[in-house]
Amino acid sequence: MAVQNLSFYIGTFVNPKDDESCDYHRAGLLVTQPTIGGAKILELLPLERGVKKYGARMTRQNTTDFGHSLILPGFFDMHFHWVQDDVRVMPKDSLLEWLEKYTFPAEMKFAKRSYAAAKARVFFKNLLAHGTIGGACYSSVHEHAVDEALKHARGDFVIGNVLMNMNSPVSLTQTEAESLAVTKRLIARHGVRHCFTPRFAITTTPAVMKKGSALADRARCYKQTHLSETPQEIAFVLSIYRKLPGFEKVRSYTEIYAKSGMLGKRSLMGHGIHLSPKELALLSETKTSVIHCPTSNAPIKEQGLGSGLFDFRKVERAGVRWALGSDIGGGPFLSMFDVMRSFVDQNRRKRVPGATYVKALYRATLAGAEILGLGRRAGSLGRGKDASFIVIPLGDLKLPDGPEVLLKRLIEAHRKERANYSGFVSAVYLNGKRQR
Ligand code: GUN
Ligand code: FE
Repeated sequence: MAVQNLSFYIGTFVNPKDDESCDYHRAGLLVTQPTIGGAKILELLPLERGVKKYGARMTRQNTTDFGHSLILPGFFDMHFHWVQDDVRVMPKDSLLEWLEKYTFPAEMKFAKRSYAAAKARVFFKNLLAHGTIGGACYSSVHEHAVDEALKHARGDFVIGNVLMNMNSPVSLTQTEAESLAVTKRLIARHGVRHCFTPRFAITTTPAVMKKGSALADRARCYKQTHLSETPQEIAFVLSIYRKLPGFEKVRSYTEIYAKSGMLGKRSLMGHGIHLSPKELALLSETKTSVIHCPTSNAPIKEQGLGSGLFDFRKVERAGVRWALGSDIGGGPFLSMFDVMRSFVDQNRRKRVPGATYVKALYRATLAGAEILGLGRRAGSLGRGKDASFIVIPLGDLKLPDGPEVLLKRLIEAHRKERANYSGFVSAVYLNGKRQR
């Protein structure tokens, strides 16, 4: 075997596989191998076996012992608004009021490039510190804010400017021609790192969705928007579109996106809480993904927008792909540990079976990477994947026999002090290089 300059990491490993299972090594060894510009995972194995196999080549220089700290693949946050960092902690209201009162004013500030640049530097450093190393992200309407975000984002992110042509504050409203011209330029500059992002059907005209979608599809870019987050939003959407030519007979919110070219295998629909069986069938047929944001949808007393509980079982039965997102600033905290906690907690309260931490971990890591078409090289600690992972000190937590109890103990110890999740991650490795 021509394997040289291996690196070794010792720790407790939980490696997600799917909704029901993950590898768990109370004492494990991760072996990585350098590649051009980084490192790949050679294998993850029990420490005892690892030492037998590699012990002769392990030195103080090439081995990092994290004791029994937990090592996970980095998180994929599949729906968040980087320009809403300051809105996270503001009072919550129902969706449409909250957008008017807090969110749009916050996004207006990004009109100034220097403001966007300073914010991007801080936000993406902080995001990485939370262990998030990939995902799909919304920016403000402003072209330069996407440039700044992509300059500072480290990891596998797609980012796009929200497109707003109607029912929006004047200073955030673009003409259709402007929206399409900005889309063309951003695709030309950033290729597939640009994500085509009509904000939602209320603010974006069908012409922009249709023409922009065609541009995005030609460049193989991802597309994202919001779908069926609250009943009031749905009623408003239908009342607007039934007056628009070509949409008079439209039956559902999802059908509006179907007619506007927005569905497909590279399409990410935020929320999708209130969907009919027909809409789910349409999403499934088109291979469209739904991104569930539990902390944002949670009741207002839990600092969410009170939008309702996503029925993951119905979505799975319909064969619709889905992953987790924080929806910052609808969601109050950057940490995907908090998002996982909220998913488990809300379903448990409603006595919905199957919402385990093992599932939450899969949906917060590998499921997102798979949806972004990166499943072969990211999202888990599988052989041949990027050597990207995060380290979480466990303090005096006793290591249980299984990963479900480990994640539960780790996460639920802080359920009353959710801000604590921000301090969970002590080290982040991207492609074999320690970032912090
Ligand atoms: N729908 C349209 N825009 C937004 C937004 O910024 N946040 C959330 N949660 N929903 C939206
Ligand atoms: Fe959102």
